[in-house]
Amino acid sequence: MNDDLRRRSLRIFSHVRRDQEAHEAQEAQEKLESKTNEVQAQSVKPENVSENTNETKHKTTESESHSEESFPLPRVISIANQKGGVGKTTTSVNLGASLAASGGRVLVIDLDPQGNATTGLGIQHRDLEGSVYDVIINDKSLDDCTEPTSVRNLFVVPATIDLAGAEIELVPAFSREMKLKRAISEIKDDYDYVLIDCPPSLGLLTVNALAASDDVIVPIQCEYYALEGLGQLLRNVGLVKSNLNQDLEMRGIVLTMYDARTKLAEQVEAEVRDHFGAKVYKTVIPRTVRLSEAPSFGQPITTFDPTSRGAIAYRELAKEVRNGESQRIG
Ligand SMILES: Nc1ncnc2c1ncn2[C@@H]1O[C@H](COP(=O)(O)OP(=O)(O)OP(=O)(O)O)[C@@H](O)[C@H]1O
Ligand SMILES: [Mg+2]
Repeated sequence: MNDDLRRRSLRIFSHVRRDQEAHEAQEAQEKLESKTNEVQAQSVKPENVSENTNETKHKTTESESHSEESFPLPRVISIANQKGGVGKTTTSVNLGASLAASGGRVLVIDLDPQGNATTGLGIQHRDLEGSVYDVIINDKSLDDCTEPTSVRNLFVVPATIDLAGAEIELVPAFSREMKLKRAISEIKDDYDYVLIDCPPSLGLLTVNALAASDDVIVPIQCEYYALEGLGQLLRNVGLVKSNLNQDLEMRGIVLTMYDARTKLAEQVEAEVRDHFGAKVYKTVIPRTVRLSEAPSFGQPITTFDPTSRGAIAYRELAKEVRNGESQRIG
């Protein structure tokens, strides 16, 4: 089993690594060219070009660790993985609630027609003024569709089943990839964090989320097929970054549904950490029944069972996500 897992992950990661290397090489080349142009414009001696280039490389290496980075708020974060059932919604809801509990103002945008983040936060579909479908298709403002939750400082833009049609309705639309970004830009300053719960696909809705985001967090379930499709997801993040949103960064990987009783979970964790290093959050989300029960009570784990292992884990994850960000002033 272990050898098989290793073989599969090596095959997947060799693609991922090749893509990353090609992307980094292209970025380095572009940086070098722009530095060279700058230097030539200022008529500085050519030796300075290589000094500057080294400096750039050094900075790139430093920025590889979560703890050493510092980012301004507000931040828009997509929680994405086209694989179904890996913990995207559980992470959006509970990371959102944990960030709100620590004083941040948080908006969760439910971008999945299943509407699980909506019901998981206690919002009933029949009571809605509007949903994310109206934002994307009818240019309604996000503000008009935002609902408060039972958690202070935590708000949600709900999704309904209409959204399933949006993928197709968007196809002929003008600037169809940028609908969500435009809507978020109007409200972004009202929040510290906007978390987007993506659907399990790489279609136009997920592209809208990535085009609107500063960061992507990828939940990976600690199971045998965990790594399948990861290369494709990272390639798509790269495509959106180079074509639609140059600020987009794959910020972190969070390991979910970790079952400490199994050897497999340990092996998956080791493989993922081996290949992605500091990109993987130190916090691992355990598999616990309480986390799966909380949505049926319309509550995040932080209020449903604040002392449970799941609540503690999501609070720790929130700390890691926050540490990468400087406090907002004013
Ligand atoms: N850490 C956990 N421990 C136990 N159950 C969990 C955990 N995380 C998620 N679950 C359960 O696993 C199922 C899938 O989780 P979730 O809905 O968060 O995944 P998803 O990636 O959003 O799924 P989809 O792709 O369908 O949107 C849910 O029933 C959820 O309650
Ligand atoms: Mg989901």
